[in-house]
Amino acid sequence: MVIKSSAVHRREMSDSPVITPDASGIGLAVAALQRGALVGIPTETVYGLAADARNPSAVAAIYAAKGRPHFNPLIAHVASIAMARCEVMMDERGEALAAAFWPGPLTLVLPTAPHSHTCELARAGLGTLAVRVPSHPVAQALLTLMNCPLAAPSANPSGQLSPTSANEVATELGDAIELVLDGGRCSSGIESSIVAILPNCAATLLRPGAIAREAIEAIVGPLAAPENNTITAPGQLQSHYAPRASVRLNAEQVGPGEILLGFGARAPSGARNLSVAGDLTEAAANLYQALRELDALGTQTIAVMRIPSFGLGEAINDRLRRAAAPRSR
Ligand code: TXA
Ligand code: MG
Repeated sequence: MVIKSSAVHRREMSDSPVITPDASGIGLAVAALQRGALVGIPTETVYGLAADARNPSAVAAIYAAKGRPHFNPLIAHVASIAMARCEVMMDERGEALAAAFWPGPLTLVLPTAPHSHTCELARAGLGTLAVRVPSHPVAQALLTLMNCPLAAPSANPSGQLSPTSANEVATELGDAIELVLDGGRCSSGIESSIVAILPNCAATLLRPGAIAREAIEAIVGPLAAPENNTITAPGQLQSHYAPRASVRLNAEQVGPGEILLGFGARAPSGARNLSVAGDLTEAAANLYQALRELDALGTQTIAVMRIPSFGLGEAINDRLRRAAAPRSR
């Protein structure tokens, strides 16, 4: 109900929910969030679907808008390490990772602080909380003004590709959001790396992402893999991050009904290429946009060339494997 009245309110102001993030645009976003509405926000990784993490009905609206199972917890975004320390209990390893990578595309899963502001629904009732300090200047400005954690999953319907532009958010979730702040195309283009730092457990890489494993291991040593029976996060479900077309991996050739997604100089010229130079950071930044573009052509299958698995290639291959997995939808 909150969403409906907010959406109507927005349409009275303008037809498009996409707003320039100047002082007045950010002011509108703050007002919307404070009254429990949802706002699309840019981050350096992908766009987020944000709500005040203290407000259970606003958080419930996120789950409804995404069609996300209620048991999946949300990342709490905060403006600074100091604010993160109010929400979670950081040991030396957490502090070292925060000092190295925040603000930036790292999410830490830590024990929830006793006086965390986040509501139980945002945490999905777990004793841990995922936190991150985004570096995007618009996210920083908004979080600083809000002075509270914002719960924000990627702003896509559950199971589909994450958006890397404001217009994609408006197209796919426009009815659920009051507005989306236009912070331009996301620079990383792939979600944050998620590391769990829990007492008496090795640091664990729950989701490879925009920071290469090698860079994280340089700070905390070797990262453990998650135990299978603990994997409940939607980003860890087998079929996820999926375009409409089916996806075939490690393609050497293009078959009937297929269109190529290339990588590196070996790809035929004229093919959509994630990075002609073979640069994995550039490829990660282009991944979702390229999949969306090829999907929009109505092709049956997207055939993707082999991508190396070091550096950001680990996250790219993780997303591609899930996009290629059998669908339940
Ligand atoms: O880059 C990103 O991380 C983006 C931007 C918007 O910040 N957010 C994002 O959120 O990707 P989401 O909800 O699409 O993915 C977060 C993942 C989910 O798989 C969720 O289940 C997992 O993090 N997660 C959240 N809290 C957790 C917790 N306490 N323990 C384990 N996994 C958790
Ligand atoms: Mg997501």
